[in-house]
Amino acid sequence: MSQKVLITGGCGFIGSHVAKKLSRCGFEPISYDNLLTSYKGFAKWGPLIQGDLTDEKKLISVLEKHKPVAVIHLAAYALIRESMQEPGKCFQTNVSGSITLFCAMQKAGIKNLIFASSCSVYGEKSHHHIKESDPTNPITPYGKSKLYIEEILQEIHKAYDFPYMNLRIFNAAGSDQDAEIGEQRKRETHLIPLAIRAALDPSFTLPIFGNRFATKDRSPIRDYVHIEDISNACVLSTKHLLQKKPSQTLNIGSGKGHSLLQVIQAIEQHAKLSVKTKIMNPSLADPSTLIADMQKTKQILDWSPCNSSLEKIIQSALRWHQKLLSQSVL
Ligand SMILES: NC(=O)c1ccc[n+]([C@@H]2O[C@H](COP(=O)([O-])OP(=O)(O)OC[C@H]3O[C@@H](n4cnc5c(N)ncnc54)[C@H](O)[C@@H]3O)[C@@H](O)[C@H]2O)c1
Repeated sequence: MSQKVLITGGCGFIGSHVAKKLSRCGFEPISYDNLLTSYKGFAKWGPLIQGDLTDEKKLISVLEKHKPVAVIHLAAYALIRESMQEPGKCFQTNVSGSITLFCAMQKAGIKNLIFASSCSVYGEKSHHHIKESDPTNPITPYGKSKLYIEEILQEIHKAYDFPYMNLRIFNAAGSDQDAEIGEQRKRETHLIPLAIRAALDPSFTLPIFGNRFATKDRSPIRDYVHIEDISNACVLSTKHLLQKKPSQTLNIGSGKGHSLLQVIQAIEQHAKLSVKTKIMNPSLADPSTLIADMQKTKQILDWSPCNSSLEKIIQSALRWHQKLLSQSVL
């Protein structure tokens, strides 16, 4: 019988791809999701339990029933800019919800947590290639919520045996290579799906928040990491904990930076269409440059971001969005 892994947020962009990868690697993924931003149809590789992260009773009963060997915790309020207007909502889901999950795991006797933290914990940096040991300085409630959870995890780990992997994910992008699933949320705020929409849908224009960043072309530089590479990292992190190796904080990025304008150009080239844009007021939530140093992750997980060229990311994302347009896939 295959070992079960519970994925909170299992119907989301990262969660659904992780579920597919886990199932390919012989695990049984169980998705736990309230479907706030995602669709039922993305739970294709194992059962879906509809529930909220803040519902401790339900979490305990699910954990006791399925006895997963690990929990991959992805459910979150993940709207970075909006977290500045709705900090309460953000902290309630991310901080209270995570504490509820950790307590439920303790009560149900479940160990091994893989947590989706974020590059947002670093904030504005004056140098490139950020190491895990660099100081953290989040500038948004979203980034702060992720850092608070990291600190809570350290305390829990000190207090009792609670092995965990803290993955600081940079910009997740691209789509499943078979285009069975992809980046599709009820409300989209991420650059690549919005820019593709602006290329494919004549009535949609891509908003760009600010054009005076301290970069060569004045647009923000981010580290885009392919969803296949993130899913591999989550499975390797699960195996790492199952082999009783020490808890770690790891960057999950490509180690390369691309500016927003380079991403738009790449979409225009591959789609052979133009992306309509409009410049909006800058947001205080956007650092100029965020690029990961990947040495530690490569060494600890024996992993490499082999699918994370901008070309592969854009091609796979376009394939998924063109499929969405041509047929109802959900
Ligand atoms: N996408 C990225 O670029 C990125 C980068 C860094 C970190 N992360 C983190 O990775 C995780 C997954 O990101 P994603 O892009 O897949 O997000 P997503 O919005 O696509 O998925 C999140 C999922 O969580 C579910 N959810 C939200 N609130 C919930 C609640 N209270 N109870 C149960 N389920 C709930 C949603 O319905 C959704 O299915 C998040 O924790 C996010 O902060 C994402």
